[in-house]
Amino acid sequence: MSVTVRVPAKVNVQLAVGGARPDGFHDLANVFLAVGLYDEVTATPADSLRVTCSGPDAAQVPLDASNLAARAALALGERYGVPADVHLHIAKDIPVAGGMAGGSADAAGALVACDALWGTNASRAELLDICAELGSDVPFSLVGGAALGVGRGERLTELAVGGTFHWVFAVADGGLSTPAVYRESDRMWEGHDVPAPEASPALIEALRAGDAEALAGVLSNDLEPAALSLFPALESTLTAGLDAGALAALVSGSGPTTAFLAADAGSAEGVAEALRKSGTCRAARVASSPAPGATLTSPTS
Ligand code: C5P
Repeated sequence: MSVTVRVPAKVNVQLAVGGARPDGFHDLANVFLAVGLYDEVTATPADSLRVTCSGPDAAQVPLDASNLAARAALALGERYGVPADVHLHIAKDIPVAGGMAGGSADAAGALVACDALWGTNASRAELLDICAELGSDVPFSLVGGAALGVGRGERLTELAVGGTFHWVFAVADGGLSTPAVYRESDRMWEGHDVPAPEASPALIEALRAGDAEALAGVLSNDLEPAALSLFPALESTLTAGLDAGALAALVSGSGPTTAFLAADAGSAEGVAEALRKSGTCRAARVASSPAPGATLTSPTS
């Protein structure tokens, strides 16, 4: 018997970052939108906890106890007194270390897969609680769709999305460490008052209306200056996508993946093709939003 769960990537359509808190995290107003690029996590009974990974970027994924999927299995097992003797296989399609919550997706996927495999039947609230312990973005990977995350991003309110948004994601040659980007942002704000993070009503309305033009006008990412400071080559990627007709361009989360909002599916294909030809990125992927959260795709016995 094995269980497979499909989990989406995300883009932050707004990432408002407050000052550093005493616990080292930052208060956020984080508007997440799930996009249709997926990892699949398959859980199979085994003699001990083991993680494997396949896909073009598999070599960059740690397979030891630091893997967030392994930590998710251990956290669920601990809570329910079940030994986490499970083989977790991650079929990875979400860019690694790219600011698209790939690691968080794997954690949410492993949690849902192990819950089904072990019959622990955790409530949604319990699963969300474990997700929040594992990482700030993990609850959203479980929920999908669109949501405003406050606190360190883990306290979610679901948001309505009234249409399909078409995106292009340019995968950079290299990665960025999320803590390093937050540290760089703190450095850039040193000596200034950081405003309290607040969700943009115009952005929430653009999502609700499914209005790509309106959304393009209000996309924002407070981590973008820090990501660009650490990875200046991203400027040329952003420019290449805008020159190709994207409605808007921004760094996805802490980067270095860059996100381009397109008017429609055809335009997205054109932007992706131009980005591939531009030589300013390693790959360009088209995907649409919203996408569902962690979903069981194959309970087979
Ligand atoms: O919660 P998560 O483990 O994904 O966070 C990774 C790192 O990102 C944290 O260690 C911290 O440096 C930074 N972070 C932050 N404020 C947040 C979320 C993440 O400073 N709200």
